[in-house]
Amino acid sequence: MPEIAWDATLYDKQHHFVSDYGADVLQWLAPKANEHILDVGCGTGQLAAQIAESGAIVLGTDASADMVANAKATYPTLSFEVVDGTKLPYQENFDAIFSNATFHWIEDQNALAEGLFKSLKPGGRLVAEFGGKGNVKSITDAITAAAEQLGLSNQVITNFWFFPSISAYTTLLETKGFEVEQAWLFDRPTKLLGEEGMYVWINQFAQHAFKNLNNEQAESIKNLAVEILKPNYYINGEWVADYKRLRIKANKPKA
Ligand code: BEZ
Repeated sequence: MPEIAWDATLYDKQHHFVSDYGADVLQWLAPKANEHILDVGCGTGQLAAQIAESGAIVLGTDASADMVANAKATYPTLSFEVVDGTKLPYQENFDAIFSNATFHWIEDQNALAEGLFKSLKPGGRLVAEFGGKGNVKSITDAITAAAEQLGLSNQVITNFWFFPSISAYTTLLETKGFEVEQAWLFDRPTKLLGEEGMYVWINQFAQHAFKNLNNEQAESIKNLAVEILKPNYYINGEWVADYKRLRIKANKPKA
Protein backbone atom coordinates (compact mmCIF):
# COMPACT_ATOMS: atom_id res chain seq x y z
CA MET A 1 0.00 0.00 0.00
CA PRO A 2 1.40 3.46 -0.78
CA GLU A 3 2.41 5.25 2.38
CA ILE A 4 -0.49 7.63 2.92
CA ALA A 5 -0.81 9.75 6.04
CA TRP A 6 -4.46 9.08 6.86
CA ASP A 7 -6.09 11.91 8.75
CA ALA A 8 -9.22 10.43 10.30
CA THR A 9 -10.71 13.82 11.21
CA LEU A 10 -10.26 15.32 7.74
CA TYR A 11 -11.49 12.06 6.21
CA ASP A 12 -14.74 12.25 8.19
CA LYS A 13 -15.24 15.98 7.63
CA GLN A 14 -14.32 16.26 3.96
CA HIS A 15 -14.62 12.75 2.56
CA HIS A 16 -17.52 11.24 4.51
CA PHE A 17 -19.10 10.43 1.12
CA VAL A 18 -16.85 7.32 1.16
CA SER A 19 -19.01 5.71 3.83
CA ASP A 20 -22.23 7.51 2.74
CA TYR A 21 -22.04 5.77 -0.65
CA GLY A 22 -20.92 2.54 0.99
CA ALA A 23 -24.37 2.18 2.58
CA ASP A 24 -25.67 1.10 -0.85
CA VAL A 25 -23.24 -1.84 -0.98
CA LEU A 26 -24.63 -3.11 2.31
CA GLN A 27 -27.73 -4.19 0.43
CA TRP A 28 -25.60 -6.79 -1.35
CA LEU A 29 -24.21 -7.94 1.99
CA ALA A 30 -27.65 -8.29 3.63
CA PRO A 31 -26.19 -9.00 7.11
CA LYS A 32 -28.16 -11.18 9.51
CA ALA A 33 -28.31 -11.36 13.30
CA ASN A 34 -25.48 -13.36 14.90
CA GLU A 35 -23.43 -13.67 11.73
CA HIS A 36 -19.71 -13.02 12.21
CA ILE A 37 -18.70 -10.33 9.73
CA LEU A 38 -15.27 -8.89 8.98
CA ASP A 39 -15.11 -5.33 7.62
CA VAL A 40 -11.73 -4.98 5.83
CA GLY A 41 -10.65 -1.34 5.65
CA CYS A 42 -13.25 -0.10 8.12
CA GLY A 43 -11.89 3.47 8.23
CA THR A 44 -13.66 5.43 10.94
CA GLY A 45 -16.19 2.65 11.49
CA GLN A 46 -19.54 4.00 10.17
CA LEU A 47 -20.30 1.04 7.95
CA ALA A 48 -19.22 -1.49 10.60
CA ALA A 49 -21.70 0.24 12.91
CA GLN A 50 -24.46 -0.04 10.31
CA ILE A 51 -23.69 -3.74 9.85
CA ALA A 52 -23.85 -4.22 13.62
CA GLU A 53 -27.36 -2.73 13.66
CA SER A 54 -28.55 -5.94 11.97
CA GLY A 55 -27.45 -7.90 15.06
CA ALA A 56 -24.34 -9.26 13.31
CA ILE A 57 -21.09 -9.51 15.29
CA VAL A 58 -18.66 -7.26 13.45
CA LEU A 59 -14.90 -6.95 13.54
CA GLY A 60 -13.62 -3.84 11.74
CA THR A 61 -9.99 -3.86 10.63
CA ASP A 62 -7.85 -1.17 9.08
CA ALA A 63 -4.15 -0.77 8.35
CA SER A 64 -4.25 2.77 9.78
CA ALA A 65 -3.88 3.04 13.55
CA ASP A 66 -5.37 6.57 13.39
CA MET A 67 -8.54 5.28 11.72
CA VAL A 68 -8.88 2.41 14.20
CA ALA A 69 -8.37 4.73 17.19
CA ASN A 70 -11.07 7.03 15.79
CA ALA A 71 -13.46 4.11 15.17
CA LYS A 72 -12.93 2.76 18.71
CA ALA A 73 -13.57 6.20 20.22
CA THR A 74 -16.77 6.68 18.20
CA TYR A 75 -18.16 3.14 18.63
CA PRO A 76 -16.77 1.87 21.97
CA THR A 77 -19.07 -1.17 22.03
CA LEU A 78 -17.78 -2.50 18.68
CA SER A 79 -14.53 -4.35 17.93
CA PHE A 80 -11.80 -2.80 15.81
CA GLU A 81 -8.20 -3.89 15.21
CA VAL A 82 -5.21 -2.61 13.26
CA VAL A 83 -4.62 -5.32 10.64
CA ASP A 84 -2.85 -5.19 7.28
CA GLY A 85 -5.22 -6.48 4.57
CA THR A 86 -2.43 -8.57 3.04
CA LYS A 87 -1.81 -10.36 6.36
CA LEU A 88 -5.29 -11.33 7.55
CA PRO A 89 -4.63 -13.70 10.47
CA TYR A 90 -8.01 -15.49 10.35
CA GLN A 91 -8.91 -19.10 9.59
CA GLU A 92 -12.55 -19.76 8.67
CA ASN A 93 -13.79 -17.31 11.33
CA PHE A 94 -16.34 -15.34 9.31
CA ASP A 95 -19.70 -15.90 7.67
CA ALA A 96 -19.15 -12.84 5.50
CA ILE A 97 -16.51 -10.29 4.61
CA PHE A 98 -17.38 -6.74 3.63
CA SER A 99 -15.14 -4.05 2.22
CA ASN A 100 -15.76 -0.57 0.86
CA ALA A 101 -13.28 1.72 -0.92
CA THR A 102 -10.23 -0.18 0.29
CA PHE A 103 -9.00 -2.84 -2.13
CA HIS A 104 -7.69 -0.28 -4.66
CA TRP A 105 -5.07 0.78 -2.08
CA ILE A 106 -3.61 -2.69 -1.69
CA GLU A 107 -0.52 -3.60 -3.69
CA ASP A 108 -0.32 -7.34 -3.08
CA GLN A 109 -3.70 -8.43 -4.42
CA ASN A 110 -2.75 -12.12 -4.36
CA ALA A 111 -2.08 -12.00 -0.63
CA LEU A 112 -5.32 -10.08 -0.05
CA ALA A 113 -7.50 -12.50 -2.05
CA GLU A 114 -5.87 -15.55 -0.42
CA GLY A 115 -6.41 -14.05 3.04
CA LEU A 116 -10.07 -13.27 2.29
CA PHE A 117 -10.70 -16.83 1.14
CA LYS A 118 -8.94 -18.32 4.16
CA SER A 119 -10.84 -16.05 6.59
CA LEU A 120 -14.28 -17.16 5.37
CA LYS A 121 -16.12 -20.21 6.62
CA PRO A 122 -17.11 -22.64 3.82
CA GLY A 123 -20.27 -21.22 2.25
CA GLY A 124 -19.27 -17.68 3.35
CA ARG A 125 -19.61 -14.62 1.14
CA LEU A 126 -17.45 -11.69 0.14
CA VAL A 127 -19.08 -8.38 -0.78
CA ALA A 128 -16.70 -5.61 -1.81
CA GLU A 129 -16.75 -2.34 -3.67
CA PHE A 130 -13.74 -0.34 -4.75
CA GLY A 131 -12.35 1.63 -7.69
CA GLY A 132 -12.68 -0.23 -10.99
CA LYS A 133 -11.07 0.20 -14.40
CA GLY A 134 -11.06 3.88 -15.40
CA ASN A 135 -11.64 5.18 -11.86
CA VAL A 136 -10.56 8.84 -11.39
CA LYS A 137 -8.89 8.72 -14.82
CA SER A 138 -9.55 12.40 -15.44
CA ILE A 139 -7.67 13.24 -12.24
CA THR A 140 -4.66 11.03 -12.94
CA ASP A 141 -4.59 12.31 -16.53
CA ALA A 142 -4.65 15.92 -15.27
CA ILE A 143 -1.79 15.27 -12.84
CA THR A 144 0.21 13.65 -15.66
CA ALA A 145 -0.55 16.53 -18.04
CA ALA A 146 0.36 19.13 -15.39
CA ALA A 147 3.64 17.36 -14.65
CA GLU A 148 4.44 17.24 -18.38
CA GLN A 149 3.71 20.95 -18.83
CA LEU A 150 6.02 21.74 -15.91
CA GLY A 151 8.79 19.43 -17.13
CA LEU A 152 8.41 17.13 -14.12
CA SER A 153 6.86 14.05 -15.70
CA ASN A 154 9.79 11.78 -14.83
CA GLN A 155 9.31 12.31 -11.11
CA VAL A 156 5.52 12.07 -10.77
CA ILE A 157 3.85 8.68 -10.14
CA THR A 158 0.20 8.02 -10.94
CA ASN A 159 -0.08 4.24 -11.26
CA PHE A 160 -0.12 3.27 -7.59
CA TRP A 161 -3.80 2.30 -7.35
CA PHE A 162 -5.34 -1.00 -8.36
CA PHE A 163 -8.39 -0.36 -10.57
CA PRO A 164 -9.12 -3.70 -12.27
CA SER A 165 -11.61 -4.61 -14.97
CA ILE A 166 -14.41 -7.06 -14.15
CA SER A 167 -12.61 -9.87 -15.98
CA ALA A 168 -9.25 -9.25 -14.29
CA TYR A 169 -10.77 -9.18 -10.81
CA THR A 170 -13.20 -12.08 -11.16
CA THR A 171 -10.37 -14.19 -12.63
CA LEU A 172 -8.18 -13.35 -9.63
CA LEU A 173 -10.94 -14.39 -7.21
CA GLU A 174 -11.60 -17.60 -9.13
CA THR A 175 -7.94 -18.58 -9.04
CA LYS A 176 -8.14 -18.39 -5.23
CA GLY A 177 -11.23 -20.65 -5.11
CA PHE A 178 -14.12 -18.16 -5.01
CA GLU A 179 -17.26 -18.56 -7.10
CA VAL A 180 -18.28 -15.11 -8.34
CA GLU A 181 -22.03 -14.50 -8.10
CA GLN A 182 -22.27 -10.88 -9.25
CA ALA A 183 -19.88 -8.23 -10.61
CA TRP A 184 -20.83 -4.70 -11.64
CA LEU A 185 -18.65 -1.90 -13.00
CA PHE A 186 -20.48 1.41 -12.98
CA ASP A 187 -19.93 5.18 -13.13
CA ARG A 188 -20.53 6.97 -9.88
CA PRO A 189 -19.76 10.66 -10.33
CA THR A 190 -18.87 11.86 -6.84
CA LYS A 191 -19.29 15.41 -5.55
CA LEU A 192 -16.34 16.86 -3.66
CA LEU A 193 -17.15 19.40 -0.98
CA GLY A 194 -16.31 23.08 -1.38
CA GLU A 195 -14.55 25.31 -3.86
CA GLU A 196 -11.23 23.69 -2.92
CA GLY A 197 -12.71 20.17 -3.16
CA MET A 198 -10.52 18.91 -6.00
CA TYR A 199 -7.33 20.34 -4.50
CA VAL A 200 -8.16 18.79 -1.14
CA TRP A 201 -8.91 15.40 -2.76
CA ILE A 202 -5.59 15.38 -4.65
CA ASN A 203 -3.75 16.53 -1.54
CA GLN A 204 -5.29 13.82 0.65
CA PHE A 205 -5.51 10.85 -1.68
CA ALA A 206 -2.74 11.34 -4.25
CA GLN A 207 0.09 12.19 -1.84
CA HIS A 208 2.10 9.31 -3.20
CA ALA A 209 2.22 10.87 -6.68
CA PHE A 210 4.47 13.63 -5.38
CA LYS A 211 6.83 11.72 -3.12
CA ASN A 212 9.85 12.33 -5.42
CA LEU A 213 9.21 16.08 -5.64
CA ASN A 214 9.87 18.98 -3.35
CA ASN A 215 6.96 20.90 -1.86
CA GLU A 216 7.05 23.74 -4.37
CA GLN A 217 7.06 21.37 -7.36
CA ALA A 218 4.24 19.29 -5.87
CA GLU A 219 2.10 22.37 -5.21
CA SER A 220 2.65 23.63 -8.79
CA ILE A 221 1.46 20.31 -10.22
CA LYS A 222 -1.58 20.13 -7.90
CA ASN A 223 -2.67 23.68 -8.73
CA LEU A 224 -2.19 23.21 -12.48
CA ALA A 225 -4.03 19.86 -12.40
CA VAL A 226 -6.96 21.62 -10.70
CA GLU A 227 -6.96 24.28 -13.46
CA ILE A 228 -6.92 21.57 -16.15
CA LEU A 229 -9.87 19.80 -14.54
CA LYS A 230 -11.95 22.92 -13.85
CA PRO A 231 -13.72 23.39 -17.22
CA ASN A 232 -15.19 19.87 -17.20
CA TYR A 233 -15.40 18.90 -13.53
CA TYR A 234 -16.37 22.12 -11.70
CA ILE A 235 -20.02 22.28 -12.58
CA ASN A 236 -22.41 24.92 -11.20
CA GLY A 237 -20.04 25.67 -8.34
CA GLU A 238 -19.46 21.99 -7.42
CA TRP A 239 -16.54 19.70 -8.05
CA VAL A 240 -17.28 16.22 -9.36
CA ALA A 241 -14.77 13.36 -9.46
CA ASP A 242 -15.17 10.65 -12.11
CA TYR A 243 -15.43 7.65 -9.81
CA LYS A 244 -16.05 4.21 -11.30
CA ARG A 245 -16.91 1.45 -8.88
CA LEU A 246 -16.37 -2.28 -9.15
CA ARG A 247 -18.86 -4.08 -6.92
CA ILE A 248 -18.60 -7.81 -6.48
CA LYS A 249 -20.23 -10.64 -4.59
CA ALA A 250 -18.35 -13.92 -4.46
CA ASN A 251 -18.81 -17.07 -2.41
CA LYS A 252 -16.52 -19.62 -0.85
CA PRO A 253 -17.91 -23.01 -1.86
CA LYS A 254 -19.54 -25.11 0.85
CA ALA A 255 -17.25 -27.85 2.07
C1 BEZ B 1 -11.83 5.71 -4.61
O1 BEZ B 1 -12.56 5.53 -3.63
O2 BEZ B 1 -12.15 5.33 -5.73
C2 BEZ B 1 -10.51 6.34 -4.45
C3 BEZ B 1 -10.26 7.10 -3.34
C4 BEZ B 1 -9.05 7.69 -3.20
C5 BEZ B 1 -8.07 7.49 -4.14
C6 BEZ B 1 -8.32 6.74 -5.24
C7 BEZ B 1 -9.55 6.17 -5.40
